Amino acid sequence: MKCIVNVTNDWGIGNGNGLLVNIPEDMKWFRTQTREKILIMGRKTLDSFPGGKPLKNRVNIVISRKRENGENTAAVDDKTRLIYVKSIDEAIDTAHEIIDENWPDYTDGDIFVIGGASIYAAMLPFIDTAIVTKTDTLLPADAFFPDLDSDPSWEMSECSEEKEYEGLKFRFCTYKRK
Ligand SMILES: NC(=O)c1ccc[n+]([C@@H]2O[C@H](COP(=O)([O-])OP(=O)(O)OC[C@H]3O[C@@H](n4cnc5c(N)ncnc54)[C@H](OP(=O)(O)O)[C@@H]3O)[C@@H](O)[C@H]2O)c1
Repeated sequence: MKCIVNVTNDWGIGNGNGLLVNIPEDMKWFRTQTREKILIMGRKTLDSFPGGKPLKNRVNIVISRKRENGENTAAVDDKTRLIYVKSIDEAIDTAHEIIDENWPDYTDGDIFVIGGASIYAAMLPFIDTAIVTKTDTLLPADAFFPDLDSDPSWEMSECSEEKEYEGLKFRFCTYKRK
């Protein structure tokens, strides 16, 4: 499985249930990487989307202890699905079942963990590729991603040239599990 995240210099990812930075090119990068993929997210991350709505043209698997299985689980339109599950294991099983039943061309690498902090931390052992936008700034944060630079089981495999938006410098990087 993959994950995709935007981090600041101390691996901060959010504050007050919102993102730390808003970079249009990074949003576009996220949309391109995850289009027609299977996404796994925590309930608070779904709540943070506009209108609390699932992302279009993607399968949105949402982990929540509070929901009953099946509640609010729906095909939103032909290409958009919202599925609630109660645990990390159930999210992983559901993602693989969807691939097995619908998309023989898809692999484990078409499953993207998209946050937030609690889900990244819990699912990191199942992730082999982290797509990380590194934003060169330090901002107050209450949600963090595990620091892959100081984790010996991870290495940065590639990084784009530096880009800039309204004075914020950022790079699109990929980390691989060794
Ligand atoms: N920078 C980025 O790329 C990025 C990406 C995504 C999110 N974020 C940020 O991350 C922050 C949110 O992170 P967060 O950790 O507070 O919230 P979260 O991980 O999005 O959601 C937490 C919720 O997920 C459910 N959950 C978590 N672990 C579970 C488990 N083991 N079993 C069952 N349910 C579980 C619970 O839902 P219930 O309460 O419903 O039971 C829990 O309250 C926000 O600031 C957001 O903007 C940043």
